Amino acid sequence: MADLAPRPGDLEPIETASRDELAALQLSRLRSSLSRAYEHVPHYRRAFDEAGVHPGDVRSLEDLARFPFTSKADLRDNYPFGMFAVPRSEVVRVHASSGTTGRPTVVGYTRNDIDTWADVMARSIRAAGGRPGMVCHVAYGYGLFTGGLGAHYGAERLGCTVVPVSGGMTERQVTLIRDFEPEVIMVTPSYMLAILDEMERQGLDPAASSLKVGIFGAEPWTADMRREIEERAGMHAVDIYGLSEVIGPGVAQECVETKDGLHVWEDHFFPEVVDPETGAVLPDGELGELVFTSLTKEAMPVVRYRTRDLTRLLPGTARTMRRMEKITGRSDDMMIIRGVNLFPTQFEELILAEAELSPHFQCVLTRPSRLDELTIRVESRSSLSDSEALVIAERIAERAKATTGASVRFEVLAPGSVARSTGKMKRIVDER
Ligand code: DLL
Repeated sequence: MADLAPRPGDLEPIETASRDELAALQLSRLRSSLSRAYEHVPHYRRAFDEAGVHPGDVRSLEDLARFPFTSKADLRDNYPFGMFAVPRSEVVRVHASSGTTGRPTVVGYTRNDIDTWADVMARSIRAAGGRPGMVCHVAYGYGLFTGGLGAHYGAERLGCTVVPVSGGMTERQVTLIRDFEPEVIMVTPSYMLAILDEMERQGLDPAASSLKVGIFGAEPWTADMRREIEERAGMHAVDIYGLSEVIGPGVAQECVETKDGLHVWEDHFFPEVVDPETGAVLPDGELGELVFTSLTKEAMPVVRYRTRDLTRLLPGTARTMRRMEKITGRSDDMMIIRGVNLFPTQFEELILAEAELSPHFQCVLTRPSRLDELTIRVESRSSLSDSEALVIAERIAERAKATTGASVRFEVLAPGSVARSTGKMKRIVDER
């Protein structure tokens, strides 16, 4: 794989500043961000007053823990524009995340916010190994979803030649990769697999393509999936994290030279990890729910936003900023089978350890009698006889029992039988 590590002078000074310098910047930005929220957003004024806290009382970063959380429900209750801290006429763009139920969550950006977002995304792409002058194929969806436009503005800001393909039309994705020879691809990891399958269907060797790095996010994926993609495509696979409520993609990024978790761009987004039950702040290193406070956003500051994503904070390595461990799941995606908590990523690991199985799978929840049951539908890599499929299904079910403690049924299906997504993969199908 190509050497894409940054050279001295490639990075912004803040990426290698001292922890003290970073903390001083965070504290002054935190104070002004909390004041902006308090002064301009009725929801925050009410919530801060009820909690008996005032932005003027903040003396240290630890004081943030006294402020109330913000949840997705708060955003929904203020649908569509009630969380904006600027007049609507200063909002130059909105995005929205569809959500599974009810109203979408709407987010807004001022001209400066769009600029900040492009900056953090450019920083992310550079950390992933992208450089000015490279061709960057963007296959995240364009539209209300933040993936496509977020990646687009960042790649332009870095000085790349952007190919704004969006998701879908997989044959054409492959044609454009063959003809335009991008070094960088930005896409969900599940859709990357579909693109690799299509390359092979067309008789192309993915490892011979021009691609040097894939910047994969918007959904959980495992280290085993990284290995699968890197070996098959001869390219680096790095993780990018973000969420619409905080800005979009570009909140945290894995560095290509270390691939050891994602550096949170803490000069713009202050992370905390809290106990999901009690809300108490946990020390770095402990697993809990990730919470973000925006430090520089104008149109829609967020204060202690509960992401529902589960991870832990770790000290910085390739950068000064702290890292978050690769996300293994979000509390919404937790399946409980006979009291055992399970996440789709646990099955991804088991499946990728079986040479005969492809990484295309779905978790199907049913309730045939009073108890919930989980069936994992997974494709084989090549056609198998019924008896061969059964042997593998039973073997992996035993391994699942041994590693997770839960009884789960596996169905090994013919190649092409599991629904493909062109964006975020729907891993859980709830038929209860
Ligand atoms: O998914 C933003 C994004 C676009 C990130 C492109 C990365 C790349 P939302 O649609 O608001 O925004 O969904 C946010 O997706 O809370 C996580 O649960 C999940 N997610 C995003 N990135 C990752 C990741 C975009 N790298 C929600 N690993 C978040 C695991 C991720 N989950």
